[in-house]
Amino acid sequence: MCGIVGYIGNREAAPILLSGLHRLEYRGYDSAGLALLETLGAEVRSSGFSSNGKRPVDNGQRTSDNGQRTTGLVIEKCKGKVTALETLAQSTPHHGTVGIGHTRWATHGVPSDTNSHPHTDQSERIAIIHNGIIENYLSIKERLAARGHTFRSETDTEVLAHLIGEYYSESEIRGTGLDSHVSELGHRSPDAGHRTLTEAVRLALNEVVGTYGIAVVSADSPEEIVCARNGSPLVLGVGDGEYFVASDASAIIAHTRQVIYLADNEMATITRSGIKTRTISADGLSGGNEEITKPVERIEMELEAIEKGGYEHFMLKEIHEQPRTITDAMRGRILEEEGNVKLGGLQNHLQELRRAPRLVITACGTSYHAGLIGKYMIEQYARVPVTIEYASEFRYRNPIIEEGDVMFGISQSGETADTLAAMREGKRKGALALGIVNVVGSTIARESDGGVYIHAGPEIGVASTKAFTSQLTVLSLLAIMLGRMRHLSVVDGRAMIHALRELPEKVQKTLDDTERQIMELAESFKNASNFLYLGRGYNYPVALEGALKLKEISYIHAEGYPAAEMKHGPIALIDENMPVVVVAPQDDVYEKVLSNIQEVRARKGHVIAIATEGDTKIHALAEQVIYIPETLAMLTPILSVIPLQLLSYYIATARGCNVDQPRNLAKSVTVE
Ligand code: AGP
Ligand code: GLU
Repeated sequence: MCGIVGYIGNREAAPILLSGLHRLEYRGYDSAGLALLETLGAEVRSSGFSSNGKRPVDNGQRTSDNGQRTTGLVIEKCKGKVTALETLAQSTPHHGTVGIGHTRWATHGVPSDTNSHPHTDQSERIAIIHNGIIENYLSIKERLAARGHTFRSETDTEVLAHLIGEYYSESEIRGTGLDSHVSELGHRSPDAGHRTLTEAVRLALNEVVGTYGIAVVSADSPEEIVCARNGSPLVLGVGDGEYFVASDASAIIAHTRQVIYLADNEMATITRSGIKTRTISADGLSGGNEEITKPVERIEMELEAIEKGGYEHFMLKEIHEQPRTITDAMRGRILEEEGNVKLGGLQNHLQELRRAPRLVITACGTSYHAGLIGKYMIEQYARVPVTIEYASEFRYRNPIIEEGDVMFGISQSGETADTLAAMREGKRKGALALGIVNVVGSTIARESDGGVYIHAGPEIGVASTKAFTSQLTVLSLLAIMLGRMRHLSVVDGRAMIHALRELPEKVQKTLDDTERQIMELAESFKNASNFLYLGRGYNYPVALEGALKLKEISYIHAEGYPAAEMKHGPIALIDENMPVVVVAPQDDVYEKVLSNIQEVRARKGHVIAIATEGDTKIHALAEQVIYIPETLAMLTPILSVIPLQLLSYYIATARGCNVDQPRNLAKSVTVE
């Protein structure tokens, strides 16, 4: 995925674009760029003739509505972070009140200056920024190349730019060649007719197969930004005489809280006087190119919510936010008296949920680990069979969906392409598709038949932490609700709710009691080459999650395993150089886990145990013991994961890794 931002108004665009890109950098950060419709700044009322009475030579200069003369398109872009772009942009300042900016997470073409966005069409008078994948870009590229187009980059995006340029020039691409008004390829004569930029973009997108969130500007149409979305998020900001487009609200909240969320197959033309929205292509609901009215919504996210709040990294801030975010996940949803739970977004589907013969949970990464714990919870307390599926596998293996199946897609970002596709596949086969999502207004949230927001607030750190524990909190609420529809008694429901109510305080205690110990522990393990994480039952997925956290931010190889599985191979890995983290709370499988620890010790493995406060027995078996408070077995993952989050964080920082923006990763994987 990437970060997109655009501005049109009466202020200098460049500073607005750059600050917006900083806010979006977590979404993808291998390169960055911006395009400005540069103005000379002087108030020049065009009389249609230059000062010496002659028609202006067409050097791309146009006079915009606010009387400023644009001198054309300026593009600054480079590999690296937004700060590199900032340095580049400030080296030769350009002025303009219309512009677009992009941070890239490469899918086609390595991170490089040339492959960074914006990309231009053949004429170099149209610039585009893009989030997503144009799947049929090669066939389009071949057709355009046969007409003499030359491409500078390896990207799919550049092909879309050239296609838009062709349509803009009134060229019709019918596969047999183009009848073009272009005097010579790509150089439009000033008098040549051309389509509107909006129509050119729309027609080009009708040829596209794939996903996109795009913003397009043109030197020949300097008073507008055209944007469009299909599969990648776009939100429009409505300011006071100025307008914005961005991948998410964090890039524009400093300027306005009034937003319009574009949905798939929708596009917008943004000018200084407002926003016009329309459909892109016939989609069964509309014939395409139909004007639509979109509601202006108010966003409540606070700006500081996306600042670091005094912590060194977003990840550490978000780890420490968990007592509050877990509270927020429960807020207003507990029916104490009835020992029950009310999830507003599921209220219209209680019958289906009551009758569901099976639930199918689908997700990726950390969200998958949450789903696996959710399976254990729901099967234990609601006695409903639950299938848990990696979304990327589910979507392509022709899965079986039976009558009445209910599907849950779990996604922090709500934009993960595989999870979205898996949910669409489940819906296609008749399942009710519900979402457990963090980002409000995200694609999965909008496409679900219903669902539950986890209310964890923006999660900026690429490694998911607070979203994970909030997902688990919502899943435990779901287990109670489903259980109370079936066999769970009011007494048991109340007991579970009581345990949930105590959780935020226990999370705080875990943070307070273990952070210092873990910092020291991290120092002694920062040079390890491998780690093994073991757990059983509810804590087997915690072992998977702990290994993922360590891998993705410290780049140390780590594996999570069911503790009993050790004997079936991995035990060969154990020696004095292998740190083994064992999640061993005092639950039903505690004694079994102790035996597994013995097996590791017998091979000189170094054991770090996560154990229940007061457990002295484990001290004799583990080199280090990190204690967590006692709680209901199904809730232990919300506590046992905290030390693992901290361990991965402090090992990574001890290794000098970029914790918030780990190499090769992006916050949300909106491409396959
Ligand atoms: C988790 O730390 C990773 N960043 C990654 O596995 C993530 O959980 C996965 O990409 C799913 O993202 P989602 O929850 O936004 O769908
Ligand atoms: N597919 C485009 C590229 O590789 C866009 C990737 C993105 O979403 O950042 O440049």
